[in-house]
Amino acid sequence: MGGTDGADGAGGPQPVIELGDVHKTYGMDGTAVHALRGVSLTVPTGDYVAIMGASGSGKSTMMNIVGCLDVPTSGRYLLDGIEVEHLSDRQLALVRNRKIGFVFQSFNLLPRTSALDNVELPLVYAGVGTAERRRRAKAALELVGLGERLSHKPNELSGGQQQRVAVARALVTAPSLILADEPTGNLDSTSSADVMALFDRLHRAGRTIVLITHEHDIAEHAERAIRLMDGRIVSDERNGARGWLTDRRSAGKHESAGKHESAAKHGSLT
Ligand SMILES: Nc1ncnc2c1ncn2[C@@H]1O[C@H](COP(=O)(O)OP(=O)(O)OP(=O)(O)O)[C@@H](O)[C@H]1O
Ligand SMILES: [Mg+2]
Repeated sequence: MGGTDGADGAGGPQPVIELGDVHKTYGMDGTAVHALRGVSLTVPTGDYVAIMGASGSGKSTMMNIVGCLDVPTSGRYLLDGIEVEHLSDRQLALVRNRKIGFVFQSFNLLPRTSALDNVELPLVYAGVGTAERRRRAKAALELVGLGERLSHKPNELSGGQQQRVAVARALVTAPSLILADEPTGNLDSTSSADVMALFDRLHRAGRTIVLITHEHDIAEHAERAIRLMDGRIVSDERNGARGWLTDRRSAGKHESAGKHESAAKHGSLT
C-alpha cells in the first residue's frame, strides 16, 4: 500500500503527512468545541518538526489525527499518500501499525515484560515470525544503547532507559513517521538530553519525526517549529542559519553539537 512516487505531478517525493483544511469539532450538540479550525500542513520525508502551543491549542487533537487514532470532522489527511478518511477501523489500525511509531510521555511499556518483549510487540501485531522478531528487536535495542538490558523489565530500568525502550519499540517496524507527544515530559534533564540525542541521530539517519513539546530547549532540536493557537497554525518556521528561536534563547543547536555526537557511540544506524 502507498506508492513512493511523487503525488499528482506535484514534483519531488511524496510527503509523509499532508493535512488539508482539517477541522475537528468535539461534541456536536450545543457545547461544540472547535479544537482544530482549518489546519493545512505538509511534512516531507526526513523532516524534523516540533509542534508547540499553549495548553488547549489543539496539539494532542492534531497528533491523534496525524497518528490515525482519530479522524477529522472535515478536511483531508494523506499519510504516505494514503487517504486515511476512507479507511475502516481495521484498515486504520493496520496503517497505524505499519506506518507510525509512537512515543508517549508516560512510556506506555507493558509492566512485568522484558525490554525485548516490549520492543517485539509491534512485530507480533505485524505478523513477523519469531526469529526475525527477536533479531530486529535486539537490533533496535542495541541502536538505542540498551543492548545490555534486553531482559530487564520496565521497573528495573531508569526513566530515560524506559523511554529509550519506547523509542526502540517505535523504530522496530521501520515506520514512515515517528510521532512523539512530550517525549521528555517525565524525564530529568540528563535523561531528556539522552532521548533528544537519540531523536537527533534518527533525524540524521533520514527518519521523519514529529514531536509535540512545551519546551523551547526541546523544540530547538527540530528543523522546523509549528505553533498552534486556538486550533490554527499561527507560525511555521524553518530552523535556518539564524535559528528560529534565537530571539528567545541565545543557545542555538550548534552549541550542543558536541553533546549530540557523544550519543553516537550508543551504536550505529542502518
Ligand atoms: N474528547 C474531547 N471532547 C471534548 N473536547 C475536547 C476533547 N479533547 C480535547 N478537547 C478540547 O479541545 C481543545 C484542544 O485540546 P487538545 O487536547 O488538543 O489541546 P493540547 O494543545 O494538546 O493541550 P495540552 O497542552 O494541555 O495537552 C481543548 O479546548 C479541549 O478542551
Ligand atoms: Mg495535549
